[in-house]
Amino acid sequence: MIVLGIETSCDETGVAIYDSARGLLGDALYSQIDVHAKYGGVVPELASRDHVRKLLPMVDQAIDKSGVSKNDITGVAYTAGPGLVGALLVGATAGRCMAWTWGVPAIGIHHMEGHLLAPMLEVDPPGFPFLALLVSGGHTLLVEVTGIGAYRVLGDSVDDAVGEAFDKTATVLGLSYPGGPALAALALQGVAGRFTFPRPMTNRPGLDFSFSGLKTFALNTWRESDQTDQDRADIARAFEDAVVDTMVIKCRRALAQTGLQTLVIAGGVGANVRLRERLGELMTTEGGRVCYPRPAFCTDNGAMIAYAGYRRLQAGQHESLSIKATPRWSLEELPVLETNL
Ligand code: KG4
Ligand code: ZN
Repeated sequence: MIVLGIETSCDETGVAIYDSARGLLGDALYSQIDVHAKYGGVVPELASRDHVRKLLPMVDQAIDKSGVSKNDITGVAYTAGPGLVGALLVGATAGRCMAWTWGVPAIGIHHMEGHLLAPMLEVDPPGFPFLALLVSGGHTLLVEVTGIGAYRVLGDSVDDAVGEAFDKTATVLGLSYPGGPALAALALQGVAGRFTFPRPMTNRPGLDFSFSGLKTFALNTWRESDQTDQDRADIARAFEDAVVDTMVIKCRRALAQTGLQTLVIAGGVGANVRLRERLGELMTTEGGRVCYPRPAFCTDNGAMIAYAGYRRLQAGQHESLSIKATPRWSLEELPVLETNL
């Protein structure tokens, strides 16, 4: 089975071709950062229009790179949600129509399922069951995964998602959008322990997260400082340490609660080097293993959608002829694939 995957849920256009026999054949990725940077965040209407401009040439590009022809494609997977509705509609409409023209099935994929399955694209992929920490610009989820579609959300953010907190704190520190990677780079120059930020919601039971207070804490610390470059770097370091520590504490708790021994990290913040290091150490102490996608597949991409699409299409699932776009969609609503039960 050869599946074309399309991702357009936010500010990245991603296209990829996945072959069940040979793995990932080729992909194309375009980031709209330059379009949105001057506004300090994603402007939904501009995002939709840019996806319209970029998507079809990128489909051709990914097909060319893969060395297949359009006639070889046996299924189309597109991100159906959650995300920005206009942006989703671009990929959903294009994907659904291409599948119809080519006479192959189409499947609408849950964006977070794509992230969650992305480590399956790597060598030595994780086996079920595992604990997934999904950390992106829109989500902070701890999920017990017992098979494809068999997802139990153990913890969620009660306010800002972790990537959102990185981005907002970066703005407070005067870094340009998207702030997460810039803040992480700045934190490398920061002195650990000069400022101490709280570890939100760790001193009470439960697996939920709250990150919006850290952004306010960063703002107040910055205002009270001399606002030197070193202050900025030290605040970045204190923020990153607090976020990473909080996630390590919650993961340790979730592993104890579930008895799981494999941890998967996925989503844009999964590209954060310190988070990877600390969770790697945690899993060494726990005698388990940690798996993550390569950094390029932590952030949004078409490969994860093509892979999730292949798994669902192969199990016989597909959409009707309607175009599916579901901006709000819980992971727990997804159909469970019987092959994994
Ligand atoms: O998964 P993703 O590409 O898009 C969403 O589905 O949201 O995640 C993007 C988020 C942004 O908030 C970005 O700042 C954050 O991931 N991010 C990082 C790093 N790389 C990306 N945050 C911290 N450290 C990084 N290295
Ligand atoms: Zn994402």
